Amino acid sequence: MTYQSNMLEDLEFNNDHFPSIILNNGSIKTLEQAQAWINQNQATIKKELACTGAVLFRGFPVSDAVSYDAFFSAFGYDNFTYKESLSNAVRINYTDLVFSANEAPKNVEIYLHSEMAQTPVFPNIISLFCEKTAITGGATILCRSDVVYQKVAAAEPQLTEKLSSVGVKYTNRIPAADNADSAQGRGWQSTLSVETRDQAEQKLRNLGYTWQWHSDGSLSAQTRALSAIKSIENGRQVFFNQIIAAYEGWEGVKDDPSVGLCFGDDSPIPSHFLDSICDIASETAYDLVWQDGDVAVVDNHLSMHGRRPYSGDRVRRVLVTLGL
Ligand SMILES: [Fe+2]
Repeated sequence: MTYQSNMLEDLEFNNDHFPSIILNNGSIKTLEQAQAWINQNQATIKKELACTGAVLFRGFPVSDAVSYDAFFSAFGYDNFTYKESLSNAVRINYTDLVFSANEAPKNVEIYLHSEMAQTPVFPNIISLFCEKTAITGGATILCRSDVVYQKVAAAEPQLTEKLSSVGVKYTNRIPAADNADSAQGRGWQSTLSVETRDQAEQKLRNLGYTWQWHSDGSLSAQTRALSAIKSIENGRQVFFNQIIAAYEGWEGVKDDPSVGLCFGDDSPIPSHFLDSICDIASETAYDLVWQDGDVAVVDNHLSMHGRRPYSGDRVRRVLVTLGL
């Protein structure tokens, strides 16, 4: 159930609605007023975010990358720069903080994931701003990670317990060069922020990864065991990983999960468990149908996100910032 509030007076600080939607009641007309209002109400907004996992701001005076940068900055999060991340999604930077959500083609679905949870370096906050909606489709998918955990644990208690105790390893095929036609199209030099193969290997060694070079210049890198289920404040257990995105979206993984995924002890993750996780998440997911100017702030541990495919001539533009 979603919950709409005019400004802040009706917020309930409970977690049985998702996401929270805060509508500008018309009292905030300028970007400066928006920044002052966020500054003043930061604690209240962050408390709501910690309960529900996602807060949507609708009707605020945010119209482009620059005003979005200013709006998001008012929350006072520490900056998490995309450049320093190990993400291999292809993106474009618009300001120091703001970049494109994903340059993957419009017909490509981006499956539910916790941002950068397939690497040891990830943001705590992900924010999205819709500058321009698509004509058809293009919703951002949001899904509560604690609810997914509860349902998966109820459906598959033993495998969930194993996933919780040993974690998961991801194997990623990183292309030789940037390729904007793929959801994971960033080449190994950009992904790892290095120039040479020696530097790449040193970086991977430091991260505890194992790797293999291919004759086409691409690289397969396997992470060390990473947490897939975490405990957060108030003892809530959350699903925090990229298992769904890897299984549904990475090349060849659906047919043979071992191509991209295994338990942290190197044993295979059964397909029926992966199918069950995907089914549960898709039943739990909420489509955020954008309006121009919407800003969403998402707690990366409490909510997973993804993107529906879209169509039409209008260029959908959703921009992102990350915070710690
Ligand atoms: Fe993402």
